Amino acid sequence: MDFESYSSFWNQQASTDEGALAAVDGSASEEIVRLTGGWTADQVRLALALDGRQRVLELGCGVGRIGRELAGDCRSWVGTDISANMLEVARERLADLDNVSFQPLHRTSLDMFESASFDRVYTVAVLCHMDKEDLFLYLQELRRLLNEDGIAYLETWNLAHPMGWKRWQFEVNNWKRSDQSQRKNVARNQFCTPDEFELYVREAGFQVVRSWADSPWIQVIAVPAGAGSQVAAQQERIDPVSQRIAYSRQWGELFGQLLDVIYGLRAPGDLLAALDQMPAHEEVALYRAYLVALWRQGQAHWGALPPEVEAEVSG
Ligand SMILES: C[S@@+](CC[C@H](N)C(=O)[O-])C[C@H]1O[C@@H](n2cnc3c(N)ncnc32)[C@H](O)[C@@H]1O
Repeated sequence: MDFESYSSFWNQQASTDEGALAAVDGSASEEIVRLTGGWTADQVRLALALDGRQRVLELGCGVGRIGRELAGDCRSWVGTDISANMLEVARERLADLDNVSFQPLHRTSLDMFESASFDRVYTVAVLCHMDKEDLFLYLQELRRLLNEDGIAYLETWNLAHPMGWKRWQFEVNNWKRSDQSQRKNVARNQFCTPDEFELYVREAGFQVVRSWADSPWIQVIAVPAGAGSQVAAQQERIDPVSQRIAYSRQWGELFGQLLDVIYGLRAPGDLLAALDQMPAHEEVALYRAYLVALWRQGQAHWGALPPEVEAEVSG
């Protein structure tokens, strides 16, 4: 694996369709990518108040996991990515949508787009895969592309949440075991505290409207600095739907339990049994489907899926 440049890393990840799906949400399953994409798209749609009239740009769209579910609520949707291979898969997955287009990136710049040419911009699970200099440069570019009435939705890993910290420890231990004469993987997961992330957002020229940090992710809704009354109006709009945008505490807990399985601290069957005991809830259903997809991929390591679960997913 070539860890030296963002594009070579992500192109290798996306050298097969299955690899590309695995790289965006870990599932390697079209069905689960549709499911998690639908979940994230619901958050983004509300955060950005999409009603079909907006020109929307996603930074780091991957296979179009979110864009596929969101394009119907946009006038136009543009997916950008550093990986040409990811965009190939996205093009295939979104081939039936006529208001989408794709733009490969070659460096930390969006200079192929004119200033103020978008009404909405967003990025999910991308700023956490780069050095802070690149994160900040992209925030500045997103600000430049946004028109004065525009809204941005921005997200990264939250170091200050216990599950964010736990996830970062994985990176620390990985580095401890690595050949340290080599450069670190440029695309490794990187983390911010909420204060730090908001500082970058503000210094890039935004005003933060709302932010949430009660989960392993920091989620920020921002508008151009100086947008004045727009901030109060946006806050009023967002407050009633806040719980549908922000990841819940339960989401963070479920994520932590899934990490235990991924780190080998807990058997997948044990978590599956625990999920089956929990009160029925959308988040539990999503994590259950996700766990089953991961287990299905990892049967060589974790053992076979219970036959009734295999029958459930294959039938
Ligand atoms: C974990 S995936 C998330 C994809 C998508 N946002 C989603 O949530 O499904 C990260 C994506 O960011 C892209 N990416 C990584 N580094 C990037 C960079 N420096 N510039 C632009 N895109 C980048 C990768 O190619 C990959 O498609």
